[in-house]
Amino acid sequence: ANKTYTLNNGVKMPAVGFGTFANEGAKGETYKAVTKALEVGYRHLDCAWFYQNEDEVGDALHDFLAKNPSVKREDIFICTKVWNHLHRPEDVKWSFENSCSKLRVDYIDLFLLHWPIAAEKNDDYSVKIGPDGKYVILRDLTENPEPTWRAMEELAESGRARAIGVSNWTIDGLKKLLSFARIKPAVNQVEIHPFLPNTELVNFCFENDILPVAYSPLGSQNQVPTTGETVRENEKLNEVARRSGHNLAQVLLAWGLRRGYAVLPKSSNPSRIESNFQIPELSDEDFAAVEEVARGRHCRFVNMKDTFGWDVWPGES
Ligand code: A2P
Repeated sequence: ANKTYTLNNGVKMPAVGFGTFANEGAKGETYKAVTKALEVGYRHLDCAWFYQNEDEVGDALHDFLAKNPSVKREDIFICTKVWNHLHRPEDVKWSFENSCSKLRVDYIDLFLLHWPIAAEKNDDYSVKIGPDGKYVILRDLTENPEPTWRAMEELAESGRARAIGVSNWTIDGLKKLLSFARIKPAVNQVEIHPFLPNTELVNFCFENDILPVAYSPLGSQNQVPTTGETVRENEKLNEVARRSGHNLAQVLLAWGLRRGYAVLPKSSNPSRIESNFQIPELSDEDFAAVEEVARGRHCRFVNMKDTFGWDVWPGES
């Protein structure tokens, strides 16, 4: 699990990152999980302003480095993201500084736009919610994110962000971004697992030297698709796991690495945090079997359209 990828600007990124999104997580849960992850060898942390726990990630990182003087800040790859309501150029900078201060670092390895959506903020930098209970979309900046991307490029040029990229971007959105980008996005972080292989988007990214990064690589394990069957329950995937001698999560992560992109498993359970970092290589037969399950599927679990009031993937549930 110590594989690395080289991003399109030469920066190296560990292929396995630890996801820090703690859904309704109790205070202190992120601190414990990140500490465990660093102890068992993860060297890539995936964070976001939106997760509201960068302070716990920062404390865990700070304490881990203090206790382990042989590991330096430079040995840890930190990704964090700008939330939708901070897309105005000056707010992108504010978001960056705010994340740095909570994470207790003076540079970020990879800084991403979290969604291709720009929305209004309140004076206290919280998200502005409209009378319909949804985000107040800034149409111009959503449809033309050039000013936002210029602010990202300035952060990259200053060296404070070693690489910049995007998350939840579609092929059309990437085409538009590439048309004006002076610095190309290094990654596109999106949901990828056997129920959402996202093959066309993944291939588009590879063709354009953008590294795909998979969130929910375990298939958002507890979410039930309309077909009624979860990734965890899929018989064919479980069969691959049984015969390979590894657990299902390890097979799913190995499949992602073999497809050539980075994976971001997340867990708050110490033994699963550890086993998710022990990723085997899949045999040709096992790889083909997972591909077979994935072929033709398109079942997205993370769609924020009801929250945002803006649909990034029109026509999908
Ligand atoms: P837990 O924190 O109890 O381990 P995703 O990143 O795909 O959205 O999935 C995260 C979910 O998968 C979490 O609910 C997490 O629960 C669960 N999970 C993480 N690792 C494993 C594993 N090795 N086996 C089963 N479930 C896991």
